[in-house]
Amino acid sequence: MPEKKTFYITTPIYYPSGNMHIGHTYTTVAADTMARFKKMQGYDTYFLTGLDEHGQKIEKKAQEAGVTPQQFVDKIAEETKALWKLMDIENDDFIRTTQERHMKIVQKIFRRFYDQGDIYKAEYEGMYCTPCESFWTATQLVEKDGEKVCPDCGRPCQPMKEESYFFRMSKYQDWLIDYIESHPDFIQPASRANEMINNFLKPGLQDLCVSRTSFKWGVPVDFDDKHVVYVWIDALSNYITALGYGTDHDELFRKYWPADVHLVGKEIVRFHTIYWPIMLHALGLPLPKQVFAHGWLLFGMDKMSKSKGNVVYPGPIVARYGVDTLRYYLMREMPFGADGNYTNESFLTRMNADLANDLGNLVSRTVAMIEKYFDGVTPDGFDGIDEKEPTGVSLRQHCVQLPKLVEEQMDKLQFSQALAEIWKVVGECNKYIDLTQPWVLGRDPEKRDELAAVLLTLAECVRFVAVLIQPFMPNTPARIFEQLGVKDEALKTWDSLSSFGRLPAGTKVQKGEALFPRIDVKKELEVLNGPSEEKAAPKAEKPKAEKKPAEAPEGCVTIGDFEKLSFRTAKVLACKKVEKSEKLLSFTLDLGSEQRTVLSGIAKAYPDPTVLVGKTLVLFANLAPRKIMGTESQGMLLSALDEQTGTLRLLTVDDAGSIAPGSEIG
Ligand code: MSP
Repeated sequence: MPEKKTFYITTPIYYPSGNMHIGHTYTTVAADTMARFKKMQGYDTYFLTGLDEHGQKIEKKAQEAGVTPQQFVDKIAEETKALWKLMDIENDDFIRTTQERHMKIVQKIFRRFYDQGDIYKAEYEGMYCTPCESFWTATQLVEKDGEKVCPDCGRPCQPMKEESYFFRMSKYQDWLIDYIESHPDFIQPASRANEMINNFLKPGLQDLCVSRTSFKWGVPVDFDDKHVVYVWIDALSNYITALGYGTDHDELFRKYWPADVHLVGKEIVRFHTIYWPIMLHALGLPLPKQVFAHGWLLFGMDKMSKSKGNVVYPGPIVARYGVDTLRYYLMREMPFGADGNYTNESFLTRMNADLANDLGNLVSRTVAMIEKYFDGVTPDGFDGIDEKEPTGVSLRQHCVQLPKLVEEQMDKLQFSQALAEIWKVVGECNKYIDLTQPWVLGRDPEKRDELAAVLLTLAECVRFVAVLIQPFMPNTPARIFEQLGVKDEALKTWDSLSSFGRLPAGTKVQKGEALFPRIDVKKELEVLNGPSEEKAAPKAEKPKAEKKPAEAPEGCVTIGDFEKLSFRTAKVLACKKVEKSEKLLSFTLDLGSEQRTVLSGIAKAYPDPTVLVGKTLVLFANLAPRKIMGTESQGMLLSALDEQTGTLRLLTVDDAGSIAPGSEIG
């Protein structure tokens, strides 16, 4: 017997700083669907998810809750496992970074990096908030009464040095560029690969700070107990520690590594496609075959986040509409890779249209007609079906092609497209009923063979559909098989779809409850949006604020408000550090009809400011001028801050050569 092909898939390990919401559920359902699909195709699959339990944030949350960090994460771990059970997630393992099996190996990995010279000790400079015991980069600080203060507690910070270990990322930069360029499937969607190469690798990698002394809730560095391993070495290693890497029991590791795909949200693609490959390479290990970055589930225009208070939790939705409905919606609504909006309305509309109308009706009509015209028993008649009933030739051909079409989409992780392929057949079946009008055929005894052929075509198409939706909707297919009378397990498999017409004659069908009841969208919206306990998602429209113009909901501005601001392109003529300041850069900017001087607190992000000369930046041009260290700053340059790493980058204009300096932005 040849060995089964393996398939190893992972989700990110989530921070247990609060309960998992629909965003985490989205990734986990996607990974589960893929694992189930591969399993159905006969792969020996392994599906890992888990929690990233260390770090200062957890330490603080626990303190606020008056429990130990371990107690805090234990509770959320239990709740997360219960949620995945509710969502019918079939993970093979649940790794927690506080488990000894993980921590021991992280220590071993860290030591190996140190021993082989990849990690060195140095000083890390930043602003320190003593009460919070937190380091901040200059740009993370916020301004209060003219003073830069801690973004968490609002108290003043002091410059401070902390001893840290650093990973020599730069050493591996050229190797990684080559690797990414010669493995076009490694980073998907491909646009993310270009982003990594152009924005991070080509400009040069900074060495990464990989230890901390300012908090204790982490994996201790075993040869220097002042330090704990900081975030990414700890977190990323989970993908191999869970398989027993580095232990005497590394059978799983040998069997499943390298992973076939790491599913990640787009905000952590950098860690998975730059730091993780470099770590693996330094360990002499092969890289995962693919890192797939999916988009965000947004609410309104915002990423869901607990701090913004716009979080949707799956529990109430599942309780009211069932787990398959939510899983279907998550996989169908937005193309995997793009951002998409969660709205109660789109959820309810899809439920009605795709599930109650298209699929639910097809199943109930098919079964009802077999009951009515053939006493509830499938007739004989697949032999010579195309001659007996030529109208259905193309539908039957399409149906037998369907597994291949679905597979093609699944291999690209295009869940939504895979479902769209299946629903094309569902739609075609419903049209086929209208076209062949079985109720007319039923009146003519001479058309009995034709009628049998029509109903068999429908029943067999329904069987194909039921088999193919199993990875997406783990419960509905069983209900369809029951109604169709399919008991033989062999008829529920991927292999059973290799030819059309396997549904045996003489099968007793059994009409059951509607698979998905039609719902009154308006009424359900009231329930979901209303102030009830069961409220699943915050209302899309927030109440209007008193003093705001009537057309701008609270938290929004009108286009009129926006038009008061002037943003303009500004070409950098010169850029230098401001004397006696650690953080300020002074820019001389060309705005076409004028030159301006603008100061910006981003010196740490650009140790060599001359790299900015010639770039076209985005200037907030009508901000009231302000004197900083004796110089008048005439506007503000826009920049983006990665909150997780503190990385700060100025906004630039695409294809700037074709835009005159000083052009209006809007
Ligand atoms: N602990 C790190 C990951 C370490 S992996 C070695 C982390 N945790 S997290 O709790 O912030 O989870 C982030 C991940 O959760 C995202 O990458 C994504 O998979 C999922 N999502 C969380 N919110 C989401 C949305 N609103 N939309 C889509 N996915 C979301 O980062």
